[in-house]
Amino acid sequence: MLFKQAESYAILDRYLIIQKTYVRRLLIGRIRGILNKSSPNAFKDERFQGLVDAAREAAEFIDEKSSEGLFFVVLCHIDCDGLASGAIVGKALMRMNVPFQVRAVKQFEEAVLRECFEESRVIILTDMGSGNLDVISKIDGGERVVVLDHHQPMLEYIKKFKGIHVNPHLFGLNGASDISGSGVSYIMAKFLNPLNIDLSPLAVVGAVGDMQNKNEERRLIGFNEAIVRDAVESSLLKIERGLMLSGRETKRLHEALASMLTPFIPGISGEEDKALAFLVSIDIPVKTGQFWRTPADLTKDEEEKLLNNLTAYMASKGIAQEEIMQLVGESYILVNEQRFTPLRECREYSALLNACGRLGKYGLGIAIAMGDRSRNTLNEAYATLDAYRRSLATLMNEVVRNPSRLINTDEFIIVNGSGLIPETLLSTVASILSSNYIKPLIAFTDTSEGMVKVSARAPRQLVNAGINIASIMAEAAKLVGGTGGGHDVAAGALIPVEKRSEFLKIVSNLLRKP
Ligand code: C5P
Ligand code: C5P
Ligand code: ZN
Repeated sequence: MLFKQAESYAILDRYLIIQKTYVRRLLIGRIRGILNKSSPNAFKDERFQGLVDAAREAAEFIDEKSSEGLFFVVLCHIDCDGLASGAIVGKALMRMNVPFQVRAVKQFEEAVLRECFEESRVIILTDMGSGNLDVISKIDGGERVVVLDHHQPMLEYIKKFKGIHVNPHLFGLNGASDISGSGVSYIMAKFLNPLNIDLSPLAVVGAVGDMQNKNEERRLIGFNEAIVRDAVESSLLKIERGLMLSGRETKRLHEALASMLTPFIPGISGEEDKALAFLVSIDIPVKTGQFWRTPADLTKDEEEKLLNNLTAYMASKGIAQEEIMQLVGESYILVNEQRFTPLRECREYSALLNACGRLGKYGLGIAIAMGDRSRNTLNEAYATLDAYRRSLATLMNEVVRNPSRLINTDEFIIVNGSGLIPETLLSTVASILSSNYIKPLIAFTDTSEGMVKVSARAPRQLVNAGINIASIMAEAAKLVGGTGGGHDVAAGALIPVEKRSEFLKIVSNLLRKP
C-alpha cells in the first residue's frame, strides 16, 4: 500500500527511485493534514496581513480539495527559487498524504498547463503564473488553479482569474526584495501544518537564490526577515557576519576566492591560479604545513587584510562602491546540514539548486530540497555544482574579454550570447555581469525552440528613479509577438528570432522615456 502511494509521488525521471525510498521512510512518521487556522506568530506584522490572509485562503482551498481525493500537480520553475518552491509545496502535500507530482519547467507554457489538466486535478503553480494570468484565466478548470508567486502580476486579468492567487504585489509588497516564490509557498505550507516550519530554511535558500539579499550587509528584508526568524527560532539556522567567501568550510582558500561570482571580481573570479597569486601577493598563507586552508581558517586580521586588498583591487578595476560592499555581509548557516558541505550555507545551497535546475537535473534538485541526503544523490549534486561553477566562470570570462559579446550603448549594456551562452545559463550570466554597471543590461541568446531568450537587469538606483524593467520587457515583447515580464530589477522575455533588432530598439526607446 505504501508503495502504491509512493508511486503517485512521482518526482521526475530517474529520481523517482530515490523518491520512492525517501517517501517510504517519510510516510512512516507522517502527520495528517492539520489546517492551522490561526496566524503563525512571526506573521502577525500588519504590513503583511493581506498576503498572509491570501496564503491562508490558498491553504484552506488545498486542504478542502485534498479531502475530496483529488490529484495535485505542482508546477515550478527550474531555478533555485522554483525548485525550492516546488519542494516546499511537495513536502507539505506529502505530509498530508495526498497524491501529487512536482514538475519543473523552463518557463510557463500553455501547452504544459493544458497537459496537466484533467478532471480530477488541482494545479499549484509556484514561482510562476502571475505573469500568465491571461492564459490561465482562459482555461477551462481555472478555478482549480492555485498561483503562489512573486512576479509582477498582470493586473488587468486578476478579476478574470477564478482560482486562488497569492502574490505580494497585490498587497503593497515587492516581489523582488520582500519575498520569493518559495517564501509565498512557505506561508501557505505553514497554514497547512505548523510542523512545516521546518521548511523555512528552504524559503531562505529560495530568496537568496533569487538574489533578494542584495541589500545593505546582504541582509534579507521584508517578509523574508520573518522567515529567517522562523528558521532561527526553530534552531535550524544561524546568522554569521563577515567576508562572503563561498565555500567557507568546503573550499581551499584560493578556490573559494575564485568561485566568488557575486560580486564578480574580474581577473580572479573563475581563475584559481590568479586567485592563488593574489593571496600570495598579499602575504596570506594558503597552507598550514601540508594542509590547504579554507576561508573558515582565516583569522580576523587576515580576513580584514583580504577584504581591504580586494576592495582596493576592485576599486582599481572601476567597480562601483555599492557592488564592492557586497563582499561583506550576512551568511545564513543551516545548522542541521553537515559541516563542510555546500548545503550548510544558504548561498552555496542556492547555487547547488540553481546548478541542478540549470544543468537539466530538476529531479535531483527537488530530491535534495525535499530532504534526500543519500550518498549517491549528494555526490551527483556536488559534481553538478562544480560543473555549473566551471561553465559559468568560463562563459563569464569569454564574454568579458570579447567586445563583440559585451556592447556598451548609451541606453544599456548588451550581452550577445548567441551560439555561446546556453539558454538556461543566460539568466545567471546576466545577473552576475549586471552588478558591474549602473546601466540596464539586456542579455540574449537563442533557444532550442528557435526563439530568442532575453534576460534583463536594471540597477536598483534606476529602479528607484522610476524604471521598471519588467513592464518594459512585457510591453516590448508584446509588440513583437513574444512574452515578457518579471520583477522591477530583473525581468525577461521570449521573442521570435527575426524580431531581435526591433525588440532591442523598442526597449531602448522605452528606457529613454521620461
Ligand atoms: O523567476 P524568478 O523570480 O525566480 O527569478 C528572479 C531572477 O532575477 C533570478 O534569476 C535572480 O538572480 C534575478 N535577480 C537579479 N538581481 C536582483 C534580484 C533578482 O539578478 N536584485
Ligand atoms: O530568466 P531570467 O532569470 O533572466 O528572468 C528574470 C525574471 O523574469 C524571472 O523572474 C523570470 O521568471 C521572469 N520572466 C518572465 N517572463 C519571461 C521571461 C522571464 O516573467 N518571458
Ligand atoms: Zn522566484
